[in-house]
Amino acid sequence: MTTAAMVAAAGSGERLGAGVPKALVRLGDQTLLQLSVAVMRDAGVDVVVVTAPSRLLAEFADLVPGATVVAGGATRQDSVRAGLAALPDDVDVVLVHDAARALVPPEVVQRVLSALRDGADAVVPVIALADTVKEVDESGDVRRTVDRASLRAVQTPQGFRRSVLERAHAGGVTAATDDAALVEALGVTVTTVEGSPEALKVTTPMDLAVAEGILARRRAHV
Ligand code: CTP
Ligand code: MG
Repeated sequence: MTTAAMVAAAGSGERLGAGVPKALVRLGDQTLLQLSVAVMRDAGVDVVVVTAPSRLLAEFADLVPGATVVAGGATRQDSVRAGLAALPDDVDVVLVHDAARALVPPEVVQRVLSALRDGADAVVPVIALADTVKEVDESGDVRRTVDRASLRAVQTPQGFRRSVLERAHAGGVTAATDDAALVEALGVTVTTVEGSPEALKVTTPMDLAVAEGILARRRAHV
């Protein structure tokens, strides 16, 4: 199995509001980009491809020596498609990872890889929901309470047979918020493995504070 990690890092990070693309924001002494790439390398992937804002290709490449850095697109889906086009021919399995999930524990990456090794076409790390979930109408009134037991929040890295991911991205579905949704649209089974709260996506300033706390706790425990 020849594996690639594609790290989606071409977003601007509007909601974080750091004034620089989110992947360049620091957590401890490294950027989210560097931390994410390091986890993928530690997992033993053969190739790392990073999608970056087109005006910052050189700056991103300097941060992650050895990775192939390509320009992303307007949406995350466009960025992943651009990254797919840059994969070497011999890659047969792809992990698609959000740079913003920089603290994903190595065990989560290993669980995704081993599901692929066991033959899964597509696999996503998931966690159960802590909050009760309700469906509301346009005016905000509750329509019903959703049965939480069958719901999961989905994280990255999401792992795919390359051929499946390529077909999914060629399928013409737009505005999917993750890659697995495109695969689901093909009717291909997406399996799940246990994710981790530590794989949170740094989206808002509060998420960054939580991530700093996770990092501090890890450092205190080594
Ligand atoms: N991403 C990307 N290309 C885009 C948009 C997003 O590669 N056109 C990446 C981001 O860099 C991030 C991941 O996809 O690592 C998840 O997206 P999100 O958390 O929404 O990041 P941003 O789009 O940067 O943040 P925001 O939506 O707040 O602007
Ligand atoms: Mg976004």
